Amino acid sequence: MRGARVLGTGRELPNRVVTNDELSRLMDTSDEWIVQRTGIRERRYADPSIGNCHMGAAASRKALEKAGITANDIDLVIFATLSPDMFFPGDGVLIQEMLGLRTVGAIDVRNQCSGFIYGLSMAEAYIKGGFYDYILVVGSEIHSRGLDFSTTGRDVSVIFGDGAGAAVLGPAEPGKGILSTHIHSEGKYAKELCAQAPGFFNDPWITSEMIEQGKTYPKMNGKYVFAHAVRRFPEVIMESLARNKFGPSDLSLVIPHQANERITQAVREALKLPKEKIYSNIELYGNTTAASIPIALDECLEQGKIRDGDLVCLAAFGSGFTWASALVCW
Ligand code: COA
Repeated sequence: MRGARVLGTGRELPNRVVTNDELSRLMDTSDEWIVQRTGIRERRYADPSIGNCHMGAAASRKALEKAGITANDIDLVIFATLSPDMFFPGDGVLIQEMLGLRTVGAIDVRNQCSGFIYGLSMAEAYIKGGFYDYILVVGSEIHSRGLDFSTTGRDVSVIFGDGAGAAVLGPAEPGKGILSTHIHSEGKYAKELCAQAPGFFNDPWITSEMIEQGKTYPKMNGKYVFAHAVRRFPEVIMESLARNKFGPSDLSLVIPHQANERITQAVREALKLPKEKIYSNIELYGNTTAASIPIALDECLEQGKIRDGDLVCLAAFGSGFTWASALVCW
């Protein structure tokens, strides 16, 4: 069976930088608290005229250019986001139009922080199975318009930022590229990190009371999320290594979803990895959910941190709960 590999990546970050001090003027928080608990120093917020489809399309154009193919070559688009531009249709169709793709399939993935790897696993299966040759996987988020910037929402609002990343995948020789992907979920924890409204559990599905009561804002049981994340990240990375008969010392680089610097460091310690083998950029962008892995991957490639033949593991954990990994031979 043929392989599937990443041919090119791209990222798009809004220009507007929002520092911890700026947030401290809106709510009762401080740079010291945020840095100590999360490692985040600043994040980006999109301008009002920009949607996820715009950022996703911009990241995709860069990925297409680096992959050395054109929009016309794309056979399928997979768009991961928890903050879609419209309730429906999904963002996949919006960037199909914006990029001028053929009338190819456009799938939207809603698996939050694990969304990009979920998308990657679908792309892997389609390409390895011979159904499609070139697939565009996009992760994009605009959190800044859905956060509670009062002190009530400070535990969540300081963490999240906006941004987009994209990867073009295509065929590879067997044994090269994505070796395996692993996706998991545990829905009994759905309410530990969620937004209750709008949604069709509610009748009507959105009311002014829900907005006033803050039900559209994300709610997070931070300690609970932390405890599960530090267990699931190492577990799903080890699962990918075991499947391919490798151990942690074979890894050239781990690119974790950028949830929290303390989580990243706990994963590093669990796997006994040296500091340089786990990538972190959370201090600059915060948690950009589905976008965080493709943004980080694009930076790693740009900075020459990944070389031919390297063994790279991408891993994520987030709302759902969901978690996932992809082991890649570059
Ligand atoms: N600024 C200042 N104080 C804050 C604050 C903020 N932004 N957010 C919460 N606090 C306060 C709390 O109100 C609490 O005050 P109290 O002791 O008077 O009640 C205190 O800080 C400690 O809160 P606590 O929730 O115990 O802090 P914590 O050590 O658990 O850290 C998180 C909070 C959110 C940073 C931490 O739980 C975490 O990182 N969780 C994982 C989150 C995550 O990664 N989410 C994304 C998953 S994809």
